[in-house]
Amino acid sequence: MKIYVSRDSAAKALGADEVAEALTAEIDASGIRGEIIRTGSRGMVWLEPLVEIDAGQGRMAYGPISADDVPALLGGRIDSLGLTEEIPFFARQTRLTFARCGVTDPLSLSDYETHGGLVGLRRALVMSGEEIVDEVKVSGLRGRGGAGFPTGIKWDTVRLARAAQKYIVCNADEGDSGTFADRMIMEGDPYTLIEGMAIAGLATGATRGYVYLRSEYPDAIAVMEEAVKRARAAGILGADVLGSGRTFDMEIRSGAGAYVCGEETSLLNSLEGKRGVVRSKPPLPALEGFLGRPTVVNNVISLATVPVIFEKGADFYAAFGLGRSKGTIPVQIAGNVARGGLFETAFGMPLGELVEEVAGGTASGRAVKAVQIGGPLGAYFARDKFDTPFGYEDFDGQGGLIGHAGLVVFDDSADMLKMARFAMEFCAVESCGKCTPCRIGAVRGVETLDRIAAGDSAAVEVLTDLCEVMKDGSLCALGGFTPYPVMSALQAFPEEFAGVKEAAE
Ligand code: NAI
Ligand code: SF4
Repeated sequence: MKIYVSRDSAAKALGADEVAEALTAEIDASGIRGEIIRTGSRGMVWLEPLVEIDAGQGRMAYGPISADDVPALLGGRIDSLGLTEEIPFFARQTRLTFARCGVTDPLSLSDYETHGGLVGLRRALVMSGEEIVDEVKVSGLRGRGGAGFPTGIKWDTVRLARAAQKYIVCNADEGDSGTFADRMIMEGDPYTLIEGMAIAGLATGATRGYVYLRSEYPDAIAVMEEAVKRARAAGILGADVLGSGRTFDMEIRSGAGAYVCGEETSLLNSLEGKRGVVRSKPPLPALEGFLGRPTVVNNVISLATVPVIFEKGADFYAAFGLGRSKGTIPVQIAGNVARGGLFETAFGMPLGELVEEVAGGTASGRAVKAVQIGGPLGAYFARDKFDTPFGYEDFDGQGGLIGHAGLVVFDDSADMLKMARFAMEFCAVESCGKCTPCRIGAVRGVETLDRIAAGDSAAVEVLTDLCEVMKDGSLCALGGFTPYPVMSALQAFPEEFAGVKEAAE
């Protein structure tokens, strides 16, 4: 009998380590023949700690399980949820990037290869840089960090740049509220990121890579460091990648916890040991990035998706999705929901279906009021926009952005004026201070929202003007996108921004 328990930090936070220990003790005490395998997460966080038992019939799911439940679980006295892959939340997904996550032992290279790992890298090793870039272009892959810039075009810019040294930098400074896809894949399938970075290196001529990983993710740092060590020992990284004579090596660097260091130029400054302030663009990092050299800066999910594209082919990947949003997107569902977790799906599923059907509505049982999509800088979508398909252009057309694809759901008790204030306050705290619209504007935004809360409805016009200035005049997305949550809350719920004083009088 094989017993699978996640080692993902969300599962651990909910008691997975204690459950694994109790399982070991019970197996030892009872003489049951069982092997415990620690995996990544299946992404069904509301069922964690999830235990899967395979006694020859496939992996049967049980969850949430506590350490106290273990004797009853092994004694067959707890009902199963059925086969894990038939649980509706899981069954309706299209798992390409996350295909191995929750299935394999994250650090086992033999598990990785058994489940399709390294097929893509081996294919890329016999292709020219131009052929690799073309494959990525055909796949339609776009930056999953949020901006959705075509990955193949970015790689081509670096490939065509002339320099003695080029770099691949993975942005793993996942700072958006409600997002955890980067963490989950690094903890659950680290070799896919390593493989994706190696392929990016082959495509562009970069021989060195860095993963800039936030310090708030100690488990991901530990898993990635060990995976890099093992990949190097196995000849996947180093001076002779898989015996090809090609070089690619990489290391893990940890950031110190500033939200703005997720912005690529600020990240590069931090990686160079400087203060994490934003650099003006141009020059683009693709031409003058890390240490002034041509650098690919890609999000974890963009890079971790590359191996499956090379394993299955660009056309296979591009067949999923909607319009120019091709392939799949790992939607992270959080906030006030019945079923929170990671849901990988082809682009195109309407927002309402994700919130009401996949996530099962709110945990509180009250009506959904709004969903913030794309982190603290993302717009609030009220129910009248629930038919918006999940895609870059579709969200843009509705005055929002999908960002890193995090959904944070609020029920009808949410105070939208407070949420708008929080956005401005967040910007004021996290601003790097380089440009005035953000540095000063966010502070004035908090003050203006306080005036509105005190009943000064004339201040709404000031707030609107201020948001225009921040949007048009800020140097980076932090100041430039903070108006999205503020203005979307104001536009969808104007009654919450007006007449407070009048009502009180
Ligand atoms: P951007 O639109 O300026 O650039 C997108 C990317 O394309 C950058 O890497 C840029 O260097 C590159 N690029 C643009 N033109 C290029 C060219 N001709 N050749 C090669 N590369 C080129 O967007 P930015 O400021 O990098 O990112 C903003 C996004 O970040 C927002 O959409 C937001 O959703 C997201 N974001 C994500 C967070 C997270 O935690 N993942 C946190 C905060 C924001
Ligand atoms: Fe810095 Fe804010 Fe300006 Fe970005 S918008 S450069 S975070 S001050």
